[in-house]
Amino acid sequence: MADLLLGLQWGDEGKGKIVDVLTSKYDIIARFQGGPNAGHTLEFDGIKHVLRTIPSGIFHKNSINIIGNGVVIDPTVFKQEIDGLAKFDIDIKSRLIISRKAHLILPTHRLLDAASEAAKGKAKIGSTLKGIGPTYMDKTGRNGLRVGDIELEDFKERYRALADKHEAMIKFHDVEIQYNLPELEKEFFASIEALRQLTFIDSEQYLHQAQKDGKTILCEGAQGSLLDVDFGTYPFVTSSNTTAAGACTGLGIAPNKIKEVYGIFKAYATRVGSGPFPTELFDEAGATMAKVGNEFGSVTGRQRRCGWLDLVALKYAIRVNGVTQLMMMKGDVLSGFDTLKVATSYKYKGQEIDHLPYNIEPENVQPVYTEFKGWAADLTGLTTFDSLPKELKEYIEFIEKEVEVPITIVSVGPDRKQTILK
Ligand code: GDP
Ligand code: IMO
Ligand code: MG
Repeated sequence: MADLLLGLQWGDEGKGKIVDVLTSKYDIIARFQGGPNAGHTLEFDGIKHVLRTIPSGIFHKNSINIIGNGVVIDPTVFKQEIDGLAKFDIDIKSRLIISRKAHLILPTHRLLDAASEAAKGKAKIGSTLKGIGPTYMDKTGRNGLRVGDIELEDFKERYRALADKHEAMIKFHDVEIQYNLPELEKEFFASIEALRQLTFIDSEQYLHQAQKDGKTILCEGAQGSLLDVDFGTYPFVTSSNTTAAGACTGLGIAPNKIKEVYGIFKAYATRVGSGPFPTELFDEAGATMAKVGNEFGSVTGRQRRCGWLDLVALKYAIRVNGVTQLMMMKGDVLSGFDTLKVATSYKYKGQEIDHLPYNIEPENVQPVYTEFKGWAADLTGLTTFDSLPKELKEYIEFIEKEVEVPITIVSVGPDRKQTILK
């Protein structure tokens, strides 16, 4: 059996922190989709670390960490990530294993991402420009290069054919993009050599055997449910299935083998990049959330847009994923607000609805709010559920009642220790 952990909003909910907290209960941590567009932050013993492609269990000595077939790997970023872990005394070679079926991000995928965004102008997605969209396009278009291809003799020729095609596509976009491809390729092939030092496996096979042997598995998602290519706020989404089904296709784990589905959400909402965000705040309250919550992207440094918690969207994400337990992050950021708001329905073209409509552009959707009394207490030093302010407990109870799923963890700070079990 496997458990599954994923984000329920627009990413950056705090998935990395919770995977790290839960890892001691699991033998294997397996990332199932996304790529270096992700930035999963872990904090412990005064160290802050941001992981991009490597699963968030890597700091626990007893865990095996798998990068699944659904992930896209940029060898250049990956090498930097591995180098960044050098000082931590981690036996990477035996603890990190990579699916041969994971696709490779080429330098030209990143350039294509940039060209495509530039060509879109104002309508741009706000991509992290890590080449995610073009790489998944090549995967589904059946043109991609996979990790296993590195072991083939004609890897370089295959690379050249695809990169040449990309160059023609970049020209097609007819935008000004500055780049030095030979320089990027030098870096790419040096990183491929570094990647080659690691262990490649048929990860679905490995995971089937692990399940047979009774090993415990935690699947780690990236991004958030509202960025899912099918169920998110399309086209302002990423290019993979960030929802529960992505764990099945991204690892080869059968749906009936998934037990707990941990849904991670912030006590408010954030979004980085473009696209609809019904409860977005443009006032002092939003600015306070951004400042207190340090809402700056861990990958691009961009300021995240902030707003109130949206229960319409949260319920939708819970249903799509079959969430069995919720984990509420960053409650500490809301300390000091006199009044808190939570969207419980939308006014959609004059009618009140409680689901996410096809078209959630701001001109169609106005959130209807329920208000709560805030709390002043600093939560960051609290360690028990009982010691939380009564107003926060009421906030939590209201959410649980509305969405009909229990909140089992309340996070009150970025550190591993600032985690309250309910
Ligand atoms: P992920 O992509 O879902 O792993 O989340 P990120 O790491 O991108 O963003 C979450 C940010 O919030 C990181 O900077 C974390 O260190 C931080 N964080 C996580 N949980 C809490 C919390 O409960 N309180 C506060 N104040 N920060 C938190
Ligand atoms: P983690 O795993 C937040 C957003 C981008 C952009 C859109 C498409 O850290 O939660 P892409 O680079 O995938 O083409 O960008 O998705 N995005 C994220 N936002 N957290 C992430 O990952 C994200 N990964 C992509 O900002 O709006
Ligand atoms: Mg992140």
